Amino acid sequence: MFENRLPPEPDKILRIMAMFAGDPRTDKVDLGVGVYRSPDGRTPVMAAVKEAERRIWDAQETKSYVGLSGDPAFLDAMRVLILGDAVPAARVAACGTPGGTGAVRQVLEMTRRLSPEATVWISDPTWPNHPAIIDHLSQKRQTFRYYDAATGGIDRDGMFADLARAQAGDLILLHACCHNPTGADLTPQDWEDIAAICEKTGAIPFVDMAYLGFAESLEDDAAGTRLLAARLPEVFIAASCSKNFGLYRERVGVVLVVTGEGGPQAAAFGTLANLNRQNYAFPPDHGARIVQTILGDAALAESWRTELRTMRETMLGNRRMLADALRAETGSDRFGFFAGHRGMFSLCGGDPEQVRILRETHGIYLIGDGRMNVAGLTAATIPQVARALAEVLA
Ligand SMILES: Cc1ncc(COP(=O)(O)O)c(C=O)c1O
Repeated sequence: MFENRLPPEPDKILRIMAMFAGDPRTDKVDLGVGVYRSPDGRTPVMAAVKEAERRIWDAQETKSYVGLSGDPAFLDAMRVLILGDAVPAARVAACGTPGGTGAVRQVLEMTRRLSPEATVWISDPTWPNHPAIIDHLSQKRQTFRYYDAATGGIDRDGMFADLARAQAGDLILLHACCHNPTGADLTPQDWEDIAAICEKTGAIPFVDMAYLGFAESLEDDAAGTRLLAARLPEVFIAASCSKNFGLYRERVGVVLVVTGEGGPQAAAFGTLANLNRQNYAFPPDHGARIVQTILGDAALAESWRTELRTMRETMLGNRRMLADALRAETGSDRFGFFAGHRGMFSLCGGDPEQVRILRETHGIYLIGDGRMNVAGLTAATIPQVARALAEVLA
């Protein structure tokens, strides 16, 4: 089967990770891979996670199968975390998945099964795995204008003009917060305007929520998604616990389908469980059980919220320090957008050639489109990175 085959193009993020690992320079700086780093450069196991694992280890007496959709207590805890009381529980169908990627994949597969003609609208740019999965499933896709590189903000006129062309039943894929890769987030007014477009066109919002709690707060970061859920008859949500619980390798994700009252919830729940059955039977349980243990215990939940706040403030601090250092280097506010963006990522504004020079000459590793993980910065590396950016992007 493989005699005349070439391996597929490696994922560009994984390629940068491999190049970084093979670079012998001691002053190299990894701003590529999308993991949170504490000021001492670690991706820590959160204290609440450690304690939850200890409790699970003590109490767990079986590793037998859980339900096809995962543990109902986990699903309910995630519903409350994400949606609060924006919609009644009876309107929400939930399903556990292997990570946020698994959740994105299941929502798209569900759409392909039930509505094969639907177009999926994705922002320009977006996380590369969005178009990759859509193409793998042979679905139709269109991009809508989103990022304005000249201002470091959102091209609102372009975005709303493009979204107005969506048809009934199309999906509009939105980032709940911490837009990957731009860091430019929708405002409360933007969420209102998107809800109005969906009401008018019949398009369905599909919210990818991979960074809940990394932008402003758990409540603020969910506010746009909750607004859509409260206003519209149908909303799809793919959420990840990789970043905000630091559970990357445990693969913890969830799909929430907000439906109309009554019958549709059962149909959505059954469809999701059936898709799980066909793809991998049962979602992983260990990470989900950690999340459920934390969210179900007031003291653990408080410890988690506090550590999450520290992580968020570290990233915001890095953003401010970088913007200040670049202001000092360039004598301009050209890079002020770093401080205004949210989450782990910003596009630094460099083209692929400049990204190559940053890597080869200065040992600074970014993704080829200029995506920088600001969580990879430290007080010690910020001056070095600011000097190199000012020089190479001059
Ligand atoms: C926008 C977006 N969606 C989904 C994910 C999925 O994360 P995971 O599958 O690791 O939970 C990521 C992770 O990088 C992401 O950036």
